[in-house]
Amino acid sequence: MNLTDAERSGKLVLEAKGIGCTFDGLKLIDNFSTVIMRGDRIGIIGPNGSGKTTLINILLGTMVEHEGSVRRGTKLEVAYFDQHRAQLNDEKSVVENVADGEHVTVNGIKRHVIGYLEDFLFPPDRARMPVKVLSGGERNRLLLAKLFTLPSNVIVMDEPTNDLDIDTLELLEEMLMEYKGTVLLVSHDREFLNNIVTSTIVCEGGGRIGEYVGGYDDWLRQRVPDAVNRKVKITGRKKPRQKKEGPRKLTFKENREIEALPAMIESVEAEHAGLYKKLSDPEFYKGDGSRVAEAKSKIEKLEKDIADAYERWALLDRISKESA
Ligand SMILES: Nc1ncnc2c1ncn2[C@@H]1O[C@H](COP(=O)(O)OP(=O)(O)OP(=O)(O)O)[C@@H](O)[C@H]1O
Ligand SMILES: [Mg+2]
Repeated sequence: MNLTDAERSGKLVLEAKGIGCTFDGLKLIDNFSTVIMRGDRIGIIGPNGSGKTTLINILLGTMVEHEGSVRRGTKLEVAYFDQHRAQLNDEKSVVENVADGEHVTVNGIKRHVIGYLEDFLFPPDRARMPVKVLSGGERNRLLLAKLFTLPSNVIVMDEPTNDLDIDTLELLEEMLMEYKGTVLLVSHDREFLNNIVTSTIVCEGGGRIGEYVGGYDDWLRQRVPDAVNRKVKITGRKKPRQKKEGPRKLTFKENREIEALPAMIESVEAEHAGLYKKLSDPEFYKGDGSRVAEAKSKIEKLEKDIADAYERWALLDRISKESA
């Protein structure tokens, strides 16, 4: 092993080679390879049921049956905030759930547990209460507080933003920004991802998994082929994050819509890919010039449709998760 190899392996968090996974005859992950290095902050996005949690389980080694191989770095300490949040002891107090004694160590700094819990909006009297009296929102906050006290060099969060109030969301953002280790983050929150991650893994459906540099917005930009995209500017309707009203359920119509969106996106993407292929063929430019202009404007429209559909899907998905 030469020096670069040694250096590399010290920085390696994990390397996946040709991983794959099939459930009930459906290919969920097809031949995906990636390398994750120390300090990477990776977002994982994709529609419901597209395999995000499964991918995490394979990467972390909690799912044994899969194709391909995953090599993990030495001395990995993973803190996992799972989607089902079953990690609190209901009978113990808030304080006892995060600390053994009076102090906690967060990001290498020792702090008094009461002060630390105040950061997470638990006043001292609330911090002495048993966990069983907490509301759903408080439980989420407590789990986050607990997560950052665990010794770790990798934090994995599966949809941590669901049911978080705005203050906690901002606090979580700050904690993740200060965190020195590697971050793997499944989320549908576009702004949250944009603020935190440096690259994005997208479960695109049908086993396809893509990797993009940057956050959610960067992904939207990059997924559109560059050559035809110079003129098109995909501007997400970026609204400042607002204080949420109470969670609401999807309407019947919205439910139908969200169910239909993945297939719709897939078909528009297929049309886009076909057209793009045509435009990449030099022969196509030999004929009628108006045909080329027409194809280009069509491709622009498709790109806008795709971006809008993803945006719509993310919004509906979030509403549905918040009310779940
Ligand atoms: N152990 C299993 N056996 C059979 N099917 C499974 C298993 N685990 C997951 N699946 C199926 O694989 C699909 C993907 O599941 P997964 O939980 O990875 O998706 P996800 O992207 O995390 O979804 P969500 O956004 O709802 O969390 C789902 O259809 C699920 O029912
Ligand atoms: Mg999941």
